[in-house]
Amino acid sequence: DTKTSDFVIDDTLVENIFKPKQEFSHKGTYGRVTIVGGSYGKIGAEVLATKSALRTGAGLTFTLAPKCGYEILQTSCPEAMFKEGGTEYIEKFDIEENSVCGIGSGLGTHTDTAEAFLRFLKQYSKPMVLDADALNIISRDNKNIKLVPEKSIITPHPKEFERLFGSTADSFERVELARRKAVEYKIYIVLKDHHTQIITPEGKVYYNITGNAGLAKGGSGDILTGVLASLLAQGYTEEETAVFGVWFHGRAADFAAANYSKEAMLPTDVINEFGNIFEEIN
Ligand code: APR
Ligand code: MG
Repeated sequence: DTKTSDFVIDDTLVENIFKPKQEFSHKGTYGRVTIVGGSYGKIGAEVLATKSALRTGAGLTFTLAPKCGYEILQTSCPEAMFKEGGTEYIEKFDIEENSVCGIGSGLGTHTDTAEAFLRFLKQYSKPMVLDADALNIISRDNKNIKLVPEKSIITPHPKEFERLFGSTADSFERVELARRKAVEYKIYIVLKDHHTQIITPEGKVYYNITGNAGLAKGGSGDILTGVLASLLAQGYTEEETAVFGVWFHGRAADFAAANYSKEAMLPTDVINEFGNIFEEIN
């Protein structure tokens, strides 16, 4: 019975996962991440995910976005390298070699974007992080979910989860449905909510207890995408990435709420707390 394998993410678990930076190391040690997203009017989402990936510690960060985001991204995230994927929305998935992808922030669901994304999924087999519009595109046809590479991490909020796998009566039923789907497609499902649940391809469920209602603001999900893609690129396993990343995102939000209040805190303030969280566990 898989129901026996439910865990709450606690400090000990997190401290055992965290790998401090090594003195004898270089940027190659910490991997390459490619954040893919943004479209005209939603470049901010790509900025947040990219900044978040940078602040989580990846060695090299690429940001693949349409041309209309070029100046915005180069100015707000000068440490990231820009890759052009179209004019006002992404039309080609020109992914940097040997990088780990985090796809979906502000991506939009334009037909050309959707076609390019599905073509990319058909020819790519490395685990990736998929969120927001990447999931919305996948939801359009129930055959698409089979294209998601095994061990990928998908991060739906309740509505996105429903679009992907159908509706459930309550959150208990939802976690059971997620358990079946994670096992069937061999993927990690991060069910974003007040207490986010992480379901592994083995059917194990982790409950996260960090985070607060200050995260109920557009952009909070985009920064989780950046954290997860960045950790995966640094060599954390998919399970470690999901568990540590979700905890880390919530903990940073708790620090931001203490400093700015749940009302006033912004996703950007949450990113700016990342350093304090690394300090805390280092
Ligand atoms: N308590 C704790 N955590 C919360 C709470 C809460 N009350 N509310 C939200 N969160 C957390 C979630 O667990 C998740 O990690 O904040 C994050 C919210 O993520 P999303 O729902 O994806 O929100 P958002 O950033 O607005 O998404 C950006 O993608 O999902 C699409 O259409 C959406 O355009 C939007 C974009
Ligand atoms: Mg979202």
